[in-house]
Amino acid sequence: MRKLITIFISAIALIIFLTTPALAISTTETETLFTNNCAGCHINGGNIVRRGKNLKSKALKKFGMDSTDAIAQLVKNGQYAMPAYKGRLTEQQIYDISAYVLEQAKHDWK
Ligand code: HEC
Repeated sequence: MRKLITIFISAIALIIFLTTPALAISTTETETLFTNNCAGCHINGGNIVRRGKNLKSKALKKFGMDSTDAIAQLVKNGQYAMPAYKGRLTEQQIYDISAYVLEQAKHDWK
């Protein structure tokens, strides 16, 4: 019985292992989107135009940008020197990029 359970758990682990690369691909796509659309001004989570308004955790919190919705809203409509991406990126891409920004901020863009 114990052996059966071990085999069962190994099988599940194997399935998880085999299906994970699919997730990795979509992360890479979002990374490329960020590089092509945002990194020009926000390289490494910085901001070359307005240095204080960068994409690090502290600044995102300070300016109320610490949720995917808030970031997606900003990216859609733009703000001051930051361009709007509505029409240039799909809703899904904007949402993915916003989640990516938060995720990167969590580990300080390293
Ligand atoms: C032309 C330069 C430029 C590009 C390209 C750009 N941004 Fe920005 N971004 C800015 C500027 C300038 C601000 C500060 C706006 C302000 O004054 O409120 C900003 C602010 C932000 C903020 C808020 C930061 C904070 O601390 O409040 C986020 C989040 C953000 N940008 C994400 C993005 C994403 C995601 C992209 C790509 C889809 C992008 N930006 C592309 C210039 C840019």
